[in-house]
Parts: sequence; C-alpha cells; structure tokens
Amino acid sequence: MSNSTAWSSEWLLSDETATETLGAALAQCCRDGGLVFLHGPLGAGKTTTARGLLRALGHEGKVKSPTYTLVEPYESLSPMAYHFDLYRLNDPEELEFMGFRDFLRDDALCLIEWPEKGAGWLGTPDLELELEPTEEARLVRYRPQSRRGAGMAEALKQLLMSAKGVSAVQSSRERANSTGKSDDV
Ligand SMILES: Nc1ncnc2c1ncn2[C@@H]1O[C@H](COP(=O)(O)OP(=O)(O)OP(=O)(O)O)[C@@H](O)[C@H]1O
Ligand SMILES: [Mg+2]
Repeated sequence: MSNSTAWSSEWLLSDETATETLGAALAQCCRDGGLVFLHGPLGAGKTTTARGLLRALGHEGKVKSPTYTLVEPYESLSPMAYHFDLYRLNDPEELEFMGFRDFLRDDALCLIEWPEKGAGWLGTPDLELELEPTEEARLVRYRPQSRRGAGMAEALKQLLMSAKGVSAVQSSRERANSTGKSDDV
C-alpha cells in the first residue's frame, strides 16, 4: 500500500477521558500487534491516547511519558507493547544503537510519539493517528499504511461511532454536499 492513503474524516474528542477512550478503541484494533505512529504537537494528547490503550490492555500502574528514556516496555501485556517518545532523539541513527529494530517484531505493539524524529529508521507504520488541539478539546484523524492497518482503521471507525465523548466532525465538503451548496473554490 502506498503512503498516499487518505486520512479519515475527523473525530472530536470532547475531553481527556474521550482521548483515553480513543486509546482503548485502538487497543481493540491492535490485538495482534502493529506499528502505530502518534502525530501531533506538544500537548496534543498522544500520551493520553497511549495511556488509554495500555490500560485497556490491562496495565494498572502509571503510564510514564518516556521522554527521556525514549521507550517504556510493557512486556507482560498481550500483545507485548512498547511506548516510544522520540521527542528528544537528536539523531535518528541513535535508534540503531538502542536496538530499535528488535522491538519491531510483528506480534508486538509499538506506539510511537514524535515519529518524525526517527524519519528514515522506523519503517512504514500500519496506522498513523494525528491529534490536533482545539481550544477546549482535541481532533483526531487516522490513516492506514498497510493491509493490516486497513483492517485496524475500519475496526477503529466502527468503535468510534459509538464511543462516549467522541463525535464525527463533518468536513466543509460533507456539509456542502448535504445542503447542496459548495464552498470549494
Ligand atoms: N480531548 C481532550 N480535551 C481536552 N484536553 C485533553 C484532551 N485529551 C488530552 N487532553 C489534555 O492534554 C494535555 C496533554 O496531553 P498529553 O500529555 O497526552 O499530550 P502529548 O501529545 O503526549 O504531548 P507531548 O508531545 O508533550 O508528549 C493533558 O493535560 C491532557 O489532559
Ligand atoms: Mg507525550
């Protein structure tokens, strides 16, 4: 699958709990592992999403942001999970020294915050999520980049449709289609 896959429409996450719910939904879509990129600026809700996912997989303790350690392993979970935050990575080559490729087993779930910092070394993700802060809430969209990711994206859509605190946002194009008007130029 090429990396030109379209982004999903946007979903509004009304509060922090809704972002955790997104993570929990994601957990249900990644039961066999996978490589998931979490994009978004500082404070967008990436760690909150990871926390929701890890809790849904049964992790009961705190979810530390691996800002300094780069990776936090959760090897007692099923699937085994690794939470990365590459914000402080100076050079993508450092990933080679930390044995990054060993984490990328097919049956492990790797969640990566700030994947841009590892450009060229991470491989193609199954699924990418992009979080965007609004004044009071967060928006999220996602896109698959592999066959496995396509299944994850479809499952995620189904789960988000009935998730509490999560609502589909109509794009201006969709609004125009439903009113018969178009604001495209
Ligand atoms: N849907 C939401 N609405 C409002 N606030 C939210 C929402 N989701 C998360 N937050 C809040 O956003 C803040 C930052 O969240 P988080 O630490 O997950 O961001 P991050 O993307 O991991 O940031 P960083 O890039 O610094 O690691 C937290 O205080 C969290 O409570
Ligand atoms: Mg974070």
